[in-house]
Amino acid sequence: MEIIHVSAECYPVAKVGGLGDVVGALPKYQQQAGDIAKVVLPAYRTRFIETHEFEQVHQSGVWVGQQWYHFNVLKEKTNLLGFDLYLVEIPDLFNSAQVYGAWNDTERFLAFQIAVLDWINEWVHTPDVIHCHDHHTGLIPFLIQHAFKYHRIRGVPTVLTIHNAQYQGQFGWEQFYRLPAFDPAKGGLLGWNNAINPLAAGIKSAWKVTTVSPGYMQELYQDANGLQDLLNYEMGKTSGILNGIDTQVWDPAKDNMLPANYKPTTVAKGKQANKLALCERFDLDPSLPLFSFIGRLVGDKGADLLPDVIGRALYEQAGKLNFLVLGSGDPHIEWMLEQTRAVNAGNFQLFIGYDEVLSHHIYAGSDFLLMPSRVEPCGLNQMYALRYGTIPIVRSTGGLRDTVTDFGDKGGNGVRFLHASSYDVIHAIGRAIELYADEKKLLKMRKANMLIDHSWDRSAQQYLDLYKSLKQ
Ligand code: ADP
Ligand code: GLC
Repeated sequence: MEIIHVSAECYPVAKVGGLGDVVGALPKYQQQAGDIAKVVLPAYRTRFIETHEFEQVHQSGVWVGQQWYHFNVLKEKTNLLGFDLYLVEIPDLFNSAQVYGAWNDTERFLAFQIAVLDWINEWVHTPDVIHCHDHHTGLIPFLIQHAFKYHRIRGVPTVLTIHNAQYQGQFGWEQFYRLPAFDPAKGGLLGWNNAINPLAAGIKSAWKVTTVSPGYMQELYQDANGLQDLLNYEMGKTSGILNGIDTQVWDPAKDNMLPANYKPTTVAKGKQANKLALCERFDLDPSLPLFSFIGRLVGDKGADLLPDVIGRALYEQAGKLNFLVLGSGDPHIEWMLEQTRAVNAGNFQLFIGYDEVLSHHIYAGSDFLLMPSRVEPCGLNQMYALRYGTIPIVRSTGGLRDTVTDFGDKGGNGVRFLHASSYDVIHAIGRAIELYADEKKLLKMRKANMLIDHSWDRSAQQYLDLYKSLKQ
């Protein structure tokens, strides 16, 4: 089975969040299972791309409306990632390391998708499945079926995975002429709520639609940021497949980004060594339980609650805990966190920015990882925390509910709370402090958590079964 993943992110080539982790790992596991998995993404000017060697395998030009862009397809030379990596280089549109957020994102990802299809249309063979990820690739399932020029690959099955339905990539109907000519009778498949909506178009046109946890799939039927009716209508082709994690990259016994490595049997000592180094770097007291947050500082992640939660928890539980936050995002939340640090510097430290190495160190050196997400399609942080023996404190939603059980329940591996409110988060922190005081119980939980199997093996098999169902 040959699968082509088309995505905007792929770790370690270009990563903004969990999408990168997933597209860097799933294809690797698919290759290990005996399939052929390839990944195609735009050639941003990231460090990885600038420092690795590629060979040119195709060159052409692409029309986006009346605009013509030259593009090259490059292939990574050494199979370094465990699968074939292809980059679509469009110098006029992808000329920096920036993945999202450019003023012309619509144009960038339109050109990318058309270039990918133009290129695949000219291949000497056809893949068995094209697997698209999120709205940046959501037009592909539509175009492959209804744009006149793709008649050669028309029958290739497509799968769309929704990593986050909050982002849909809408743009106005007045821009429809930018798409390659398509059967006008099918134009309705592009739209939702008076706009061209790439995520909706993908949901309507893909042969199968998945999302990244069963729990989030159920939530999407109720509320999918406007697409819930569509998802109910298309329910028959939808399913939730829980993400895995790359246990080769995320392995506390071998992780070379950590000051100290450890395994379940040495977790107490190992975590302590990492915590000491972390507290020394951030000038925090290592004898106190360390609560951390890693992630995008946006409302969906509940990051707006952090300033209030941290300020109040430090006041109410004075001298009993420390906080550390790594993230970037909404400038207002960043500013509020800076203010909170200014008055709590002894117990709260903050790193605004993106730092892969520091994130590994925080997973290893913290006692608790806080995830007060309002929306969490899957969430990988809690799985990394579990694997590193750090107790996740999560809001009961989406993939968090599917992977974390409260320590008050049988087999509990974390702390759960219901509402995205300061009150609920502070209450959960209070329970975590009680758990921290019970050293024996905490150690037992850490060890058991580290042994939970969150590898991709099972989920990769579920995707394979899904692809196979398309061939019948
Ligand atoms: P999302 O994709 O919604 O941001 P996930 O939990 O799926 O959330 O994945 C987030 C990924 O991004 C994890 O690998 C996490 O460690 C990483 N990450 C998020 N913010 C940062 C940051 N500021 N620095 C380093 N890594 C980060
Ligand atoms: C999205 C979601 C996150 C998920 C990730 C990978 O970014 O917000 O919950 O883990 O995709 O699927």
